[in-house]
This record gives sequence, C-alpha cells and structure tokens, in this order.
Amino acid sequence: GAPVEVNVSKIEPGQLIRAEWRGKPVYVVRRTEQTVKDLAKHDDQLRDPNSEMAQQPSYATNAYRSIKPEFMVALGVCTHLGCAPTHHNGDFDQFVEGVSQGFFCPCHGSKFDMAGRVFQGVPAPLNLMVPEHSFPNEDTLLVG
Ligand code: FES
Repeated sequence: GAPVEVNVSKIEPGQLIRAEWRGKPVYVVRRTEQTVKDLAKHDDQLRDPNSEMAQQPSYATNAYRSIKPEFMVALGVCTHLGCAPTHHNGDFDQFVEGVSQGFFCPCHGSKFDMAGRVFQGVPAPLNLMVPEHSFPNEDTLLVG
C-alpha cells in the first residue's frame, strides 16, 4: 500500500492522534519533554526495555523507539491478541507503580509505556510494533 501522510503540526503536546495504514490503526503522540525524560525511569519494570525482541525499523531502535524523541509512532494493535490499547495521559494516579502514563489494553489488561514498551506481568509478549516512517518536512509524517 501507499504511504499515509499525517499532518503533525497541530498535535498538541501530550495529544494522541490516530491514522490508518494498511487497515491498521497507527498512534502518533507528541510527547512532552517530561514524558521523554520519564521514559528512562522505569526500564526495570519493562519486559524488553531495549526493544531487542520488538519489531521496529533500525532507525527507531533507540531509547525512544522513534526518529524524533518528541514523536511516538506505533501501531495501536496489542501484541497479545490485537485489541486497541487506550491512551492514558496521566489520568490514572498510578498507571503502574511510579508511572502515570501509558497505554492500557482493555481486553486482557496489558500495559505499555509512552514508547509502546510492554510492562512486565501482562499477557502481551512484545512491545507495540513501530512501522516504517519518515518526516519529509517539519509538519509531515509519512507512515509506510
Ligand atoms: Fe491486549 Fe490481550 S489483546 S491484552
């Protein structure tokens, strides 16, 4: 399929927008600076903190799983049985111990952080998949 173009210029800090690529939901989040900093604080609570088992392009194999730390781009497809995780932007007191934000899968309770990395002790085996993507200019994300 053709790449999908997403205008990222209007995404507010902390906001998630959804796109669709090859019939699958793609989540795009503009992370705040604090969210980016917080990603480094809970590695020991994650199943695969360095995304060694996860699917992502080589340019996204880094601490943020993205090209620009500010933008998270991941499939909104739980790696357990494919439900759509919901985004919790600090609206849980404790999403998991010491962590206030992330993604929660309503089907069987898997939890992922703001880089789509799965927490320990849940059914999902892998981090959310990061699709091929690029930024042809400041305002535009191309998925696929
Ligand atoms: Fe997400 Fe089972 S499909 S936890």
